[in-house]
Amino acid sequence: MNDQAHKLRSLVKSMSNNQGDNQNNDDLNKAHLYTITSGKGGVGKSNCTANLALALQEKGKRVIIFDADLGMANLDVILGVTPSYNLKHVVNGLKSLEEIIVSGPNGIALIPGGSGMQELANLSQIQINNLISSFVRIGKEYDIILVDTGAGLGNNVVDFILGSDEVILVSTPEPTSITDAYGVLKTISRYDKRININLLINQVENHREGEIVSKRLITTANDFLELEVSLLGVLPKDDSVVKSVKSRRPFLVEFPKARVSKEIRVIANKVLDQEVENGSPKGIKGFFSNLLGIGRR
Ligand SMILES: Nc1ncnc2c1ncn2[C@@H]1O[C@H](COP(=O)(O)OP(=O)(O)O)[C@@H](O)[C@H]1O
Ligand SMILES: [Mg+2]
Repeated sequence: MNDQAHKLRSLVKSMSNNQGDNQNNDDLNKAHLYTITSGKGGVGKSNCTANLALALQEKGKRVIIFDADLGMANLDVILGVTPSYNLKHVVNGLKSLEEIIVSGPNGIALIPGGSGMQELANLSQIQINNLISSFVRIGKEYDIILVDTGAGLGNNVVDFILGSDEVILVSTPEPTSITDAYGVLKTISRYDKRININLLINQVENHREGEIVSKRLITTANDFLELEVSLLGVLPKDDSVVKSVKSRRPFLVEFPKARVSKEIRVIANKVLDQEVENGSPKGIKGFFSNLLGIGRR
């Protein structure tokens, strides 16, 4: 294991040396990577991811979604697409990363992780090398990568979080969901207190409810975990979401005038404002280094 970790570390180091400080480096690091996560399942992560991606795309950004949920991958359902291949085919050398990308409504791009996600923990040096290069290549084509993860902190979720530029933590106002969101914050704080965490409260009865709940969570995280958490936005409980899931068309496309669609556009604006404030992204390579357990722990 140690031997493998050593090999991986030198591999990543050699890759970064090759890229050096040349002009291309700017291009390589262009895509901002957001991990969308939650403590509890079923809070609306995947719907938020899909529709935020579409809203960002409406504003002229090139966006790609990576469905990295091991257990309950359902972005394909939400986007109404049926991928024939997933990351497993890339890992096994049967397809290139480009070949597994599917295109959803308004041309939004999706990388289906599928069963390939399980295999990330056991890749050979060559497979890691190929995968990192593929993602770096893809990263050059997009401005924003949204990674939808599973709920809770199992599997690779912590690694996703630590490697990303920003975390979007989704919770509903329900006490159980908030408690689980706090659990996620607690775990993050053990590894990295400087990570940018953006709270998205979904399914609120009214805006005020979202503000009250978020304020409490933000203060608690600040006082007890010394974590900087900010409120990204609040989304209403809206039947359009339920209907859009049933019709397999994202609510932003199916019900562009619904309240929830207006609010997700507000959130997209905020994401773009923050992107300007936060400056250069860490880059795809950093993300994968974390994901594959290189240079950490
Ligand atoms: N804003 C909302 N208003 C109403 N229902 C919602 C909303 N967000 C999510 N839902 C409901 O929650 C279900 C689960 O959403 P999903 O995005 O798949 O959650 P997760 O990815 O967190 O498991 C949806 O199918 C929908 O019925
Ligand atoms: Mg989901």
